Amino acid sequence: MKIKAAVVYEKGGPFVIKEVDLADPKEDEVLVKIAGCGVCHTDEGVRKGDIPLPFPIILGHEGSGIVEKVGTRVNRLAPGDHVIFSAYRCGECEFCLSGHPAECIHMVEGSFSGAYADGTRRHRDENGVELHSFFSQSAFATHVIANQNNTYKIDDDVDIALMGPLSCGVNTGVGTVLNIIDPPAGSGIAVFGCGGVGLSGVMGAKIAACTTIIGVDVVPSRLEMAKELGCTHTINGKEVEDVAGEILRITGGAGIDNCFDTTGIPALINAAIIAMKQLGKCAICAAMEENIMDMRLTSRVRSEAKYLIGVTEGDSNYPFFLPKLVDFYKAGMLPFDKMTKYYGLEEIDRAFQDSLSGKVIKPIIRF
Ligand SMILES: NC(=O)c1ccc[n+]([C@@H]2O[C@H](COP(=O)([O-])OP(=O)(O)OC[C@H]3O[C@@H](n4cnc5c(N)ncnc54)[C@H](O)[C@@H]3O)[C@@H](O)[C@H]2O)c1
Ligand SMILES: [Zn+2]
Ligand SMILES: [Zn+2]
Repeated sequence: MKIKAAVVYEKGGPFVIKEVDLADPKEDEVLVKIAGCGVCHTDEGVRKGDIPLPFPIILGHEGSGIVEKVGTRVNRLAPGDHVIFSAYRCGECEFCLSGHPAECIHMVEGSFSGAYADGTRRHRDENGVELHSFFSQSAFATHVIANQNNTYKIDDDVDIALMGPLSCGVNTGVGTVLNIIDPPAGSGIAVFGCGGVGLSGVMGAKIAACTTIIGVDVVPSRLEMAKELGCTHTINGKEVEDVAGEILRITGGAGIDNCFDTTGIPALINAAIIAMKQLGKCAICAAMEENIMDMRLTSRVRSEAKYLIGVTEGDSNYPFFLPKLVDFYKAGMLPFDKMTKYYGLEEIDRAFQDSLSGKVIKPIIRF
């Protein structure tokens, strides 16, 4: 069928809005009419070439929409269902079966290879050029094909165009706090980077009843939003040179219980190790250069029994956790809509610019 999609033809290139041919869904796949797709920093990483994927490509991995057609073997979804998607999970490997689908051994081939998990490509432009896909989804488009394993039915009494960011950015922030850090009620947490992921971590910390929540960023409007979403304290990293010292000051010298870094900046991760109490966990989720640790701090990690933990997609068990995020939103506990702004497909370049400049935290392309 003919769909409309935003295609990036070369590394660093603009989005080109095209009519594109999309293949039919296979027997275990669904065709979904997209209502919205969030802009995540990871899309920009691929567009710029920092995350190497083949071009031309249709990006977009925070899609939401309504099922239009299902393959013959699809048994969990039906036309009319409201759905969001996750990164690819096979459903059968040891990590999928033990409730850690973000670590699925086929995740990279299904999400970051430029093809669907079975190695096929499903899109062609008007010149017959095969287009690469992203996350077995490619949701900067009016329609997508997705495997039923990575497509999740959610309640239909919420604005479906808004729900896409729940699947990646919000899931990564809330999931990292609730699933990995698992902070006790009444504890403290510092969140480095108040973008879509960090602010979702702040909302997760509020859900977990943390009573000291420190947000660190360099953009004043983001620090304002951090306060609105639950931070008890904020630190502007441009004004405060010694972030660890400031966290120690805020906590009366005791240190903070846990930290969550979304910046990938070595100095901040080192500050987390210094500013945490014994047994503190510092979760890290951003792409970063190698050798981030100041090796002099490893003795501190050992002697103070601290944890440095890498996290993908909040280590969420998607079928269980993604609908729970919708419940949090409906209960008023996850007001992630405050971070969002809608753009039309034709405005996608501006949506990316506004995300990069810090003007908008979570743009959503609405169809
Ligand atoms: N591991 C995963 O599964 C996963 C999932 C989604 C996103 N990510 C990654 O997480 C990271 C965050 O994503 P995002 O969408 O929130 O990005 P974002 O760009 O919206 O947020 C990053 C924030 O860090 C702030 N920042 C930059 N320099 C700083 C400094 N020196 N001190 C303090 N703050 C600083 C920025 O102002 C921005 O608000 C990205 O690297 C993204 O690729 C990882
Ligand atoms: Zn993402
Ligand atoms: Zn798997």
